[in-house]
Amino acid sequence: MTKRLYIKTYGCQMNVYDSARMADVLAPLGYQRTDAAEGADLVVLNTCHIREKAAEKVFSELGGIRRLKAARRRQGERMLIAVAGCVAQAEGEEILRRAPFVDIVVGPQAYHRLPELIARVPVAENGVVDTDFPVEPKFDFLPEAAAPQGVSAFLSVQEGCDKFCTFCVVPYTRGAEFSRPAGQVLAEARRLVCGGAREITLLGQNVNAYHGDAPKGGIWGLGALIRALAEIPGLERIRYTTSHPRDMDDELIAAHRDVSRLMPFLHLPVQSGSDHVLAAMNRRHRAADYRRTVERLRRARPDLALSSDFIVGFPGETDADFEATLRLVAETGFAQAFSFKYSPRPGTPAATARDQVPDAVKAERLAALQDLLHTQQVAFNEGAVGKVMPVLFEKPGRYSGQLVGRSPYMQSVHAEVEDGRIGEVLPVVIRAALPNSLSGELAIDNKPAPARQTA
Ligand code: SAH
Ligand code: SF4
Ligand code: F3S
Repeated sequence: MTKRLYIKTYGCQMNVYDSARMADVLAPLGYQRTDAAEGADLVVLNTCHIREKAAEKVFSELGGIRRLKAARRRQGERMLIAVAGCVAQAEGEEILRRAPFVDIVVGPQAYHRLPELIARVPVAENGVVDTDFPVEPKFDFLPEAAAPQGVSAFLSVQEGCDKFCTFCVVPYTRGAEFSRPAGQVLAEARRLVCGGAREITLLGQNVNAYHGDAPKGGIWGLGALIRALAEIPGLERIRYTTSHPRDMDDELIAAHRDVSRLMPFLHLPVQSGSDHVLAAMNRRHRAADYRRTVERLRRARPDLALSSDFIVGFPGETDADFEATLRLVAETGFAQAFSFKYSPRPGTPAATARDQVPDAVKAERLAALQDLLHTQQVAFNEGAVGKVMPVLFEKPGRYSGQLVGRSPYMQSVHAEVEDGRIGEVLPVVIRAALPNSLSGELAIDNKPAPARQTA
């Protein structure tokens, strides 16, 4: 009998990947994904704890789900509610205290145990909680059979973080750094390609800290893993996220030079341009190190574009510190970026620092930074107009006859293309740029795509 499974995903791409894997674990029990919580037999909220707002969203969402559960009970039907992800890991039992109608609380390392947790619900007095960091790596127990992810797929290769930036909850919610064996990653990548994937984004909270067992002994870093992935026939594009500036090693930079299927777009969070703030954040690099890394990357791959993350209003950040961030942005030039007000997180060292920055100052700095980043993003997108770009088409566009795809730089590109060409990389001449997307026309008969980008 099929049961309806509704999963709502918050936070980073690793949660998107995990949600897909949870669905794979539950498929043998008859669960099929639906896109509405109403009428679902099991609702999973896959949560994020990174900033206060993200964590609080979960409890307001749970309020609504509770009403749906009550409505279902009145019809004599059952709805199970599970809270997964980083809030589950961070708050554990506390979730059941605040929301006693929740049935399961499951941390990111225990998803392979979901069937067992579901079976325990009817006999449990309250809810069932599993926030262990099991010794068995969950990847060894997740099913090989996976629902296809489409043209562009995610593949987690690394989890956890040992860096302990003083603002960040990830080392607590995701635990110590762990790399999957390269052979396991390659096998999953081949399965994804068989299922229609043409692009794979390798995921990790600290993906370039990857150091997995190599297929024939020894250890591979991310650079070596990417070289091996690039040999898989049919895999046109490789990306990875999120990387740490400290782990941008020679081998990985060389992969950017040599592997044409590795896309020339890199998310490399810097957080701040001030050495004083970077030190207080425990980022373990200075602004000059970041500049040098970017320079080396651009020498390796001259068409590389960058994206980044920034935090403003970190405790102790002065006007001069903030100006150093603006300078770094102005000098580096980002195609795209995410920026946030510092949000104190319980249990992290920076949360109890005495020199917290007032919210009004944070807001002012965020607005100034976002202005500058927005200007750079618009300029980057406008720079694409008139160029021919290889676009990987992923899905139908808003209008009939139109498809939407991605440029090498993750820009979404609309063009008139036949439906049957989803999954192909086609050259598109860009005609117009909007702040968040591009549009253009197929250029197949005009100019061929630059060979190195379509590979
Ligand atoms: N592993 C990545 C970051 C993961 S979290 C790295 O090392 O860069 C994603 C982003 O959220 C971070 O880059 C940071 O900019 C932001 N972030 C994390 N904790 C935060 C906090 N307490 N307040 C505001 N932003 C935060
Ligand atoms: Fe968090 Fe990234 Fe720092 Fe790890 S490296 S503690 S994930 S910000
Ligand atoms: Fe959020 Fe956890 Fe990802 S805190 S950003 S969901 S690792």
